[in-house]
Amino acid sequence: MKTVLVTGGAGFIGSNFVKLMVKKYPDYNIINIDALTYAGNLENLKDIEGKSNYTFIKADIRDKEKIENIFESNDVSAVVNFAAESHVDRSIEEPEVFLTTNIIGTQVLLDTAKKYWKVNSEDKYCKEYKSGVKFLQVSTDEVYGALGKTGMFIETMPLMPNSPYSASKASADMIVRAYHETFGMPVNITRCSNNYGPYQFPEKLIPLVINNCLKQKDLPVYGDGMQVRDWLHVSDHCSAIDTVLHKGKDGEVYNIGGNNERANIDIVKLIIKTLDKSEDLIKYVKDRPGHDRRYAIDNTKITTQLGWSPAYTFEKGIKETIQWYLDNTEWIENIITGDYANYYSNMYSNI
Ligand code: NAD
Ligand code: TYD
Repeated sequence: MKTVLVTGGAGFIGSNFVKLMVKKYPDYNIINIDALTYAGNLENLKDIEGKSNYTFIKADIRDKEKIENIFESNDVSAVVNFAAESHVDRSIEEPEVFLTTNIIGTQVLLDTAKKYWKVNSEDKYCKEYKSGVKFLQVSTDEVYGALGKTGMFIETMPLMPNSPYSASKASADMIVRAYHETFGMPVNITRCSNNYGPYQFPEKLIPLVINNCLKQKDLPVYGDGMQVRDWLHVSDHCSAIDTVLHKGKDGEVYNIGGNNERANIDIVKLIIKTLDKSEDLIKYVKDRPGHDRRYAIDNTKITTQLGWSPAYTFEKGIKETIQWYLDNTEWIENIITGDYANYYSNMYSNI
C-alpha cells in the first residue's frame, strides 16, 4: 500500500486534492498534515472524515521533530507539499512567515524524506532511493514574474519573482531542485496558474467578489483592473498533480494552466452579472505594490508528455463555483465569524 503525505491539506487546493485521492485510491493511505493557520479549515474535509484510508495530523512543516516522528511511524512513499502561506497581499504586510514556512518548511520536509528514503542515508555519495518514492513540490507561475502583453511562461524560463510570496516560492523551487541535483532525490515541481473553485478562502479575488456581492459590499479592484490572470479550476489542478505524481519524470518541472486568460475587471463584471447585482459596487482602489501585470501558462509539456488536459471551460467552472458559494453560505459565515477555527477542538478534542 502506498502512503501519500499531503501537507497543507486543510487549505483550498490541498483539501480538494486530499478528497480526490481518498476517493480515487481506496488502497492508498492518505495522511494530511496541516498547521491549521488562518487558511486551514477542517470543515473542508467533512466528506471524508472517518474514511479508513485517511488520517489528519496537526503539524507544522517547520517542526523537524514532529515531521521525523511522522516519517518514523508511517512508511511514507510520497510527499505532496501544498503547505504554504499563499496570499500575496499578506506577504507584503508580513513577509517573514512566508520565508519560514515556504522555504524552511520545504527544506525540513526534503531533509526528512531524504533521511527515510535514501538507501544509505549515511553515505553522502549515495543517490539510490527506495523504489517508487517521490517528492512533489506544488509551486506557482508567479515565480516566473510578470509578462507583457504577449508571450507565455515555459518551464525553462528564468525565475524573476516580484513579491515576497513569489520570491519565497521560487526559493523553495531552488531548494527542491538542489536536492535532486546534489542528493539524487526523485522530485517534481509543478507551477500552476490562479486556481478557483469550491472552498477557496474569501480573501482571494473570486470568493471575495462573490461574497461581497451577496452582502451588497464594495468590490475592491486594484489599479485599473486590467491585470490578467490565467484561471484554472481547482479540480483540474488536482487531476494534474495526480498525473505528475504517478507519471512525472524525476527532476522535471511541469507548468499547469487552464488556457483561460481574463482581466480582473472582466471577472468582477461577470460575477456581478451572474448574481444580478449593479456595477456601482465596483470600487477602484490603490494598486497592489509590485503588482504583476499578466500571467499566462504554456501547458504544452504536461499535455504532450503526460497526457493531462483541463476538463473545465471557464464558463462552466465559474458558473458552478458561484453556485457553490450560493449553496454554502454557512461555510463562508463560519470563516467570517471565526467559528471554523473551533472545528478542530470540537472534532479532535479526544485525541
Ligand atoms: P491556502 O492558503 O488555502 O492553504 C494553505 C494551507 O497550508 C492551509 O491549510 C494552512 O493551514 C497550511 N499551512 C500554512 N503554513 C503551514 C505550516 N507551517 N505547516 C503546515 N501547514 C501549513 O493555499 P492554497 O491556495 O490551497 O495553495 C496551496 C498551494 O498551492 C500553495 O503552496 C500555493 O503556493 C500553491 N498555489 C496556489 C495557487 C492559488 O491560486 N491558490 C496558485 C498557484 C500555486
Ligand atoms: P489574488 O486572488 O490575490 O491572487 P494572486 O495575487 O495570487 O494573483 O488576486 C488575483 C488578482 O485580483 C490580482 O491581480 C489582484 C487582484 N485583486 C483585486 O483587484 N482586488 C482584490 O480585492 C483582490 C483580493 C485581488
